[in-house]
Amino acid sequence: MAENLPPDPWWHGAFLYQIYVRSFCDTNEDGYGDLRGVIERLDHLSWLGVDGIWLSPTMPSPDQDWGYDVSDYTGVHPELGTLADLDDLIAAAADRNVRVLLDLVPNHTSSAHAWFVDASSATDSAHRDYYVWADPAPGGGPPSNWLDSTGRSAWQWDDRTGQYYLHNYLPGQPDLNWWQPAVHEEFRRILAFWFERGVAGFRIDVAHGLYKDQLLRDNPPALDDRSLDNRFGLRSVYNANRPETHAVYRDWRQIAESFAPPRLLLGETWTGDYGKLAQFYGNDDELQLAFNFPFVYAEFTATALSGTVERTLAHLPAGACPVWVASNHDVGRFATRWCGNDERKIRLALLVLATLPGAAVLYYGDEIGMADVDVPPALRRDRMTLTSKDPARSRDRGRTPMQWDASDGAGFTPARVRPWLPIGDNPTRNVASQSRDPDSTLSFCRRLVALRRAEFAGRLPIYQQLPAAEQAWAYDVGELTVLANFSDDELPLDHRVDEVLLASYGKEPPPDTIVLEPWQGIVARR
Ligand code: NOJ
Repeated sequence: MAENLPPDPWWHGAFLYQIYVRSFCDTNEDGYGDLRGVIERLDHLSWLGVDGIWLSPTMPSPDQDWGYDVSDYTGVHPELGTLADLDDLIAAAADRNVRVLLDLVPNHTSSAHAWFVDASSATDSAHRDYYVWADPAPGGGPPSNWLDSTGRSAWQWDDRTGQYYLHNYLPGQPDLNWWQPAVHEEFRRILAFWFERGVAGFRIDVAHGLYKDQLLRDNPPALDDRSLDNRFGLRSVYNANRPETHAVYRDWRQIAESFAPPRLLLGETWTGDYGKLAQFYGNDDELQLAFNFPFVYAEFTATALSGTVERTLAHLPAGACPVWVASNHDVGRFATRWCGNDERKIRLALLVLATLPGAAVLYYGDEIGMADVDVPPALRRDRMTLTSKDPARSRDRGRTPMQWDASDGAGFTPARVRPWLPIGDNPTRNVASQSRDPDSTLSFCRRLVALRRAEFAGRLPIYQQLPAAEQAWAYDVGELTVLANFSDDELPLDHRVDEVLLASYGKEPPPDTIVLEPWQGIVARR
């Protein structure tokens, strides 16, 4: 009987919200956001109606990669607060029905982590095998052709112990050796530690990483320069995306489900291959959610986006919950990348995110249409892109402070404090002014979140693409029909609906003669 079935997981039909903590709200006036700042702003998130938040790394770190170089997996970075602050945040969020996910970094640690300090002290140290060490290649030089995220060799020579160690990211981020069972044990303990504190789940950094080829074979040349599975002209065949990694997630899924309510594993599954993306869901026994990067990188056209959605849904196993996201701390903001800061396009993008089946993720500021900020070279803080072969791709542009109001510090920090990154243009792109305006992007986004909850919460509605002109994207999803115009021209459509529920901007067209404005989308009931 239906009432005896377990309820669908909360992330089906949910909106998650990514918070880059350092840029959300600064309460101790040091120019960096902190956990108390997140607590202070929780009312905005419950007003917006999101179901959960994912906090960018909160653990102690020397910050070579702003927290993605962890030096203690069961602590809190002193610049962000204390363990007690995090406990308070989890409790305060729970009072508002908002779950808290942390960022977990299992592919590598910081070189300042006690495991690596020990591992690099002697070849026979207790933690030596926690990391990937290798002798030089027979003719000398690095053991393989693998490249790190800046385009340099992924192997760093260690003079003290006379071997190379592997770092797929910065030299200060040595890769862990997942062939070593003790590493598995450590992470089981770390997972349980946070789950017991009430953490609702993890976003798993570099979830496609973890295992590396045991023979350290060279990566083959790239076949297609634009593929997401490449790095600087090489295909990441042997230093990532190894099949053994799936066993880790089967193990973690059991741990996640041994807690009540079950905890959520959301992977940063970096691949352009839909088949590989699907594999991260396993047989409903691995990750419950896997980020979809082909969607993130799709062009903002009806054909590209709808094609990505169709291919995703065709590949995912039955019952798997897709994830739709368009901005994050690495790729920057969709308001700029997709929409060239055109408000009509920004609203259309939000409408699409809110009406696709599965889980959707907003990046802080997406709800007000926050744009990338051109950070001058002297003010850049992202070491990875600063030392990269392609420094123009600085990730700082999408990490600037949240724009809460039109004041000098944007409500992020007092005007007299210098924020860690410059603040974007905030006269109207801010929460305070947009929350007073019923026609603002923020008010529209809030209506979308409410509509999504009312229609999709705890469900995976059926998606069906409808025939439409090339610049249009038309689909049925659950009981709704979505019609979207991806062009600069008015677009008459002959789709019939019963009632238009909302339009992304301007007037709602009558249900029997639908003519969409340029870049307008509508959600209707059939
Ligand atoms: C992916 C994270 O999103 C990114 O910010 C980080 O630099 C790398 N993983 C390395 O941890």
